[in-house]
Amino acid sequence: MMNKLITTLLAALVLSAGPAAASGGDDILLEPAPINRLDNESLQRGARTFVNYCLNCHSARYMRYNRLTDLGLTEEQIKDNLILNGAKIRDPMTVAMPAADAKAWFGAPPPDLSVESRVRGVDWLYNYFLGFYQDEKSATGWNNLVFPNVGMPHVLWELSGTNRLVTTEYKDGHEAHGAAIAAKRLVKVAALPGGKAAVETVAVATPGTMTAAEYRTLVADLVNYMDYMGEPIKNQRISLGLIVLIYLSILFVFAYWLKKTYWKDVH
Ligand code: HEC
Repeated sequence: MMNKLITTLLAALVLSAGPAAASGGDDILLEPAPINRLDNESLQRGARTFVNYCLNCHSARYMRYNRLTDLGLTEEQIKDNLILNGAKIRDPMTVAMPAADAKAWFGAPPPDLSVESRVRGVDWLYNYFLGFYQDEKSATGWNNLVFPNVGMPHVLWELSGTNRLVTTEYKDGHEAHGAAIAAKRLVKVAALPGGKAAVETVAVATPGTMTAAEYRTLVADLVNYMDYMGEPIKNQRISLGLIVLIYLSILFVFAYWLKKTYWKDVH
């Protein structure tokens, strides 16, 4: 019975993994996001970037401004620095643009970003902001290595500068994968006709106001904030977990002492 259940479960897993693996097309190597959700200064910088550059189009409906006191900010600081649209401190992070307009302008509505970090994962998000490149063929003038034909323009381009796509061809997928792994950065391996393969990556076309390293820090802070926003309570769980462990270890000392006392007469 149990065996049958396990076999069925395994079969279901293999089936669901099947189509993705079998499409054989593109393989993407993401850079790990260098983030730390216990770093309040990074979270504060990320929140600032988020309200300045993202809330024009996206909302974060499950996040209230006053919750940002979690990050070590006072309500005054939140009002003065992070509320840019006249919202009240208890309001959620909503957006003025009606969804229908947004869809008409960009071809796709900008989704609510409250739990986006849980949908896509932090590495995906980090690389999404490294992966924009200029593309004349797209309606916005932008394309993205991580999200092909994305409807969102590269809203941070003044800071990052602009990138262009660089494609290198290899005689087969094996060689291309070797080169992709050796690159140790965001790259995509695409299958070409005739068994050949290409490695795609982005390279600077025009520099921005920030250096490449500064821009990466900005993006890491932004993703760190989005990770916090996706699960604000997690930091409290980490501290609660520690308190419970300390409590249990104190309890253990007493329990052990009690056991010793009870069994003393028996021996
Ligand atoms: C000018 C409007 C605009 C701004 C500003 C903007 N976005 Fe977007 N964003 C969009 C649109 C439109 C889409 C939907 C694109 C699509 O599905 O093709 C999108 C999609 C996304 C996605 C992918 C969603 C998914 O999982 O499919 C993420 C992540 C994202 N935006 C994050 C951000 C962040 C973070 C910022 C701030 C740095 C930001 N966006 C600023 C318009 C915007």
